[in-house]
Amino acid sequence: MTLPNIDHEKQIYCFKVFYAFLVVLLLRMNNPCIGCSEREMQALLALKQGLLDDDKSLLSWGREVQNKDCCQWDGVYCSNHTGDVVKLDLGDQSLEGDISPKLIHLQHLEYLNLSFNYFSLSKIPDFIGSLSNLRYLDLSYASFGDEIPNQLENLTHLEYLDLRSYSDYPIYAKNLNWLSNLSCLKHLDLSSTNLTGVVGWLEAVNMLPKLRNLILQGCNLPPPIISAVYVMNSSKSLVRVDLSWNYFNGSSIPASFGNMSSLAHLILHRSQLEGGIPNSFAKLCRLRELDLGSNSLSGQLSDFVETLSKCAQKTLESLDISYNPNISGSLPDLTNFLSLKHLSLGGNNLSGRIPESIGQMSKLETIGFGGNSLDGVISETHFSKLSKLSYLDLSSNSLLLNFSFDWIPPFQLRDINLKSCKMWLSSFPKWLQTQKNYTWLDISDAGISDTIPSLFWDLSPKLTFMDISHNQMRGTVGNVRLEFAPHLNLSWNQLEGPIPSILSEVSALDLSHNNISGAASFLCPTKDSSLSFLDLSGNHVSEELPDCWTYFKNLVFLDLSNNYFFGKIPTTMGYLFSIQTLRLSNNRFVGELPQFDNCGKLTLFDLGENNLSCSIPKWLGASLSNLVILILRGNQFYRSIPPQLCHLTRIQILDLSMNNISGTIPKCLNNLIVLAQKGNSDLAIQHAYYTYLGGGLRSWLYDDEASLTWKGVRSKYKSTLGLVKSIDLSSNKLIGEIPSEITDLVGLVSLNLSQNQLTGQIPPRIGMLQELDSLDLSRNQINGRIPNSLSRIDRIGYLNLSENDLAGKIPIGTQLQSFGPSSYGGNPLLCGLPLLRTCDEEEKGPGQTMLVNQDDKDGLISQGFYISLGLGFAVGFWGVFGTLLFNRSCRYTYFNFWTCFTDWLYVKAEIIRQRMPNTK
Ligand SMILES: *[C@@H]1O[C@H](CO)[C@@H](O)[C@H](O)[C@H]1NC(C)=O
Ligand SMILES: *[C@@H]1O[C@H](CO)[C@@H](O)[C@H](O)[C@H]1NC(C)=O
Ligand SMILES: *[C@@H]1O[C@H](CO)[C@@H](O)[C@H](O)[C@H]1NC(C)=O
Ligand SMILES: *[C@@H]1O[C@H](CO)[C@@H](O)[C@H](O)[C@H]1NC(C)=O
Ligand SMILES: *[C@@H]1O[C@H](CO)[C@@H](O)[C@H](O)[C@H]1NC(C)=O
Ligand SMILES: *[C@@H]1O[C@H](CO)[C@@H](O)[C@H](O)[C@H]1NC(C)=O
Ligand SMILES: *[C@@H]1O[C@H](CO)[C@@H](O)[C@H](O)[C@H]1NC(C)=O
Repeated sequence: MTLPNIDHEKQIYCFKVFYAFLVVLLLRMNNPCIGCSEREMQALLALKQGLLDDDKSLLSWGREVQNKDCCQWDGVYCSNHTGDVVKLDLGDQSLEGDISPKLIHLQHLEYLNLSFNYFSLSKIPDFIGSLSNLRYLDLSYASFGDEIPNQLENLTHLEYLDLRSYSDYPIYAKNLNWLSNLSCLKHLDLSSTNLTGVVGWLEAVNMLPKLRNLILQGCNLPPPIISAVYVMNSSKSLVRVDLSWNYFNGSSIPASFGNMSSLAHLILHRSQLEGGIPNSFAKLCRLRELDLGSNSLSGQLSDFVETLSKCAQKTLESLDISYNPNISGSLPDLTNFLSLKHLSLGGNNLSGRIPESIGQMSKLETIGFGGNSLDGVISETHFSKLSKLSYLDLSSNSLLLNFSFDWIPPFQLRDINLKSCKMWLSSFPKWLQTQKNYTWLDISDAGISDTIPSLFWDLSPKLTFMDISHNQMRGTVGNVRLEFAPHLNLSWNQLEGPIPSILSEVSALDLSHNNISGAASFLCPTKDSSLSFLDLSGNHVSEELPDCWTYFKNLVFLDLSNNYFFGKIPTTMGYLFSIQTLRLSNNRFVGELPQFDNCGKLTLFDLGENNLSCSIPKWLGASLSNLVILILRGNQFYRSIPPQLCHLTRIQILDLSMNNISGTIPKCLNNLIVLAQKGNSDLAIQHAYYTYLGGGLRSWLYDDEASLTWKGVRSKYKSTLGLVKSIDLSSNKLIGEIPSEITDLVGLVSLNLSQNQLTGQIPPRIGMLQELDSLDLSRNQINGRIPNSLSRIDRIGYLNLSENDLAGKIPIGTQLQSFGPSSYGGNPLLCGLPLLRTCDEEEKGPGQTMLVNQDDKDGLISQGFYISLGLGFAVGFWGVFGTLLFNRSCRYTYFNFWTCFTDWLYVKAEIIRQRMPNTK
């Protein structure tokens, strides 16, 4: 590069002049007569001294030569006329500590911002009340605590006050009397401060004649909002009123809002309001935003619309009445609302058609109609002029979408929610391919039975969520490029081909219940994956699993069940540090189990129905202390049950059935604490995982699910899985006696020890297992009599003692005779009802045996015991499985209760049809 042709001397001259100017400037800046005063400087240095400044944001604050003028310090601003410090802007500087009282020497301070720092829940200093020139005070989210100081009342020039606090640690006020002096106040935000019980809050606010913005979100404000209709001093000035997230406890919307002639924004979201819209709202001629969402308002939508159309129809831009389930009626014509951009009416009880005139509202950006009972056909006309639409929610109505094949919509949507809308001719909505910028797409359960056009997989690069599940879409998953690690749900379709190689680009992928076959090299990303949820269950993948799971450090849920995976379970699976649910069941895995002892968060571990063969590893009990469900069913595990398994104190379902396990049942089983407790507070076993969504993390919940054999039928439990407590050791080679310790497991709902080689007697205290719904000891070599206590397990619905060496009379009690003879068959020495074989004459008749305590020494019989029979029965577990015979009058009494109980529980006991692709 060549210099421009300028005389060299001229350059030097210019430089000298510039240098001289710089020196003068520096001298001037160092001149204390122009900069801040010594007193102010000292005050600022004292302030700095009290604060921990990790981010070094106060580095320029010091006495060094170059910092002589405190007006030049970061965050400090002085008056251009007097040189006094007038503004201190220290927001979001990670400051911690105490505020020096010397601050009050900044007597000319007009502006103070300490927001988003950390003042350790200390009280807002009283002496701030002495900064009498303050006009602007922002202490929001600064982690102050305690009570708002009354001294703030001296800040009579204050125009802006923001004390928003974190709702976990709110600052609080007992009254707002201090507000009434602040007659210059224009902006007041006390959101998330605790104003519980502040009765005169409204009167205090009412004294502020210049107030424009009143924001009291989530303050626990007590009802009523307004005691009577009277003219507020502030009513002429208020522009924005936000009282959302309070507990007005059934108050109605105060009519006096209608007198606020300047009101432009009224936000009363989720505040427990009831009733309709006051007629006075017809006077609100400047209203731009009305948010009444998530309350319990009622009435006809047309009444709301009519009231607002009186005056606000030219100005209203945003109307949110969503989630008021008692607002009903049909959608009126809204074309008179010339400015309307956002219309949120979801979650109401609206019915009828959506008028086509909505297509003329060219300013509309948001249509939120989901979760109503709207019906009819939606066509292109509904959208003809909606070029600005970006949010469309028509989900969960009864709408039929009929657009022409080559429709090119006038809009580019950001959010598309058409869940449960039905597509015309069940065809794929081709217009979706014209949408290039969506972040959210839900077309699940839309009755689409069509091939997905390959162009569709050219998804919006901004995608964060997509759900196309529960259709009958065919085709293969195309090449997808994704940037925001989205949540993809493609389950319950008929997708084919290999598992798409996108596992390092998504955070959740549900491909379950499709016809996916190949795996290609589906795993093995080259860097850490953000994947936290992967469900490939119910497909036809017939591959060996690659050994590269170390990259899936975030994986919480992995389900590969019901496929044809074969080979060994790879060692690196033991490095799934975050895994909580791991299901590999119903595949063809063989060989030994790798060590999973790093997976301490594992809650559900299902290896059932494979061909694994090894001894039951000791680390299962030693390291997986969070296990709630362990299923090894249907493999070839051998040797004895290691005593370490008794360390699984949280276990609720232990299924080791159908293996080759030998040895005795460990006596330490009574250490299984949860099984030794009755009942459970949680119906479902719930987990959370996280995905990226719109810049932040969003948490998703899922419920664990397990299938269990219950009375010979394999059933699936999900919504009530938390209630199931079961031990199944059936079909093994166990020997020895049933340890009496097992009767300590009083929470057990099902115990299955059948098809082993157990000997000895049934533990006499078996009657302790009062929650038992199902007991199967069949096909062993158990001898002795049936303990009387067994007859007193009142809720038992399934009993099988057949094919043993039991002897003597079947005890007569509330239960045992209600089972058929097959429950007792194959015990040649057993007699009495329901068997046809009668007992010897010396045995007593039925009426007398009932209370005879022959062979149990547990002393269970007491009056209290019989009373508790009835009570326990009503709230017990058996009902969940819904199998009891109502053949005894004491049961019949509870029949009505049972009906309600099932409604409440939402029982799901669906019989699994194994691998039936035609049911997908
Ligand atoms: C001082 O003057 C400058 C430049 O005119 C201006 O940007 C600044 O806001 C003024 N400071 C104050 C405190 O008014
Ligand atoms: C507030 O003002 C009153 C009366 O003007 C005065 O007595 C009191 O000391 C002041 N409080 C503070 C903290 O400055
Ligand atoms: C709010 O204050 C009330 C009474 O002063 C108290 O009972 C309640 O726990 C407080 N709420 C929170 C969230 O601190
Ligand atoms: C507010 O109104 C009340 C009566 O309505 C009146 O006594 C009071 O002086 C008014 N306050 C202001 C600041 O105008
Ligand atoms: C995917 O959708 C199905 C059915 O629509 C649902 O049951 C499942 O929980 C969803 N999966 C995820 C991960 O959200
Ligand atoms: C299980 O593995 C054994 C050999 O280890 C093999 O003989 C048997 O056929 C396998 N069973 C199944 C169902 O794959
Ligand atoms: C069962 O386990 C024993 C060792 O405990 C072993 O000898 C036998 O082969 C196993 N049987 C089967 C069918 O795997």
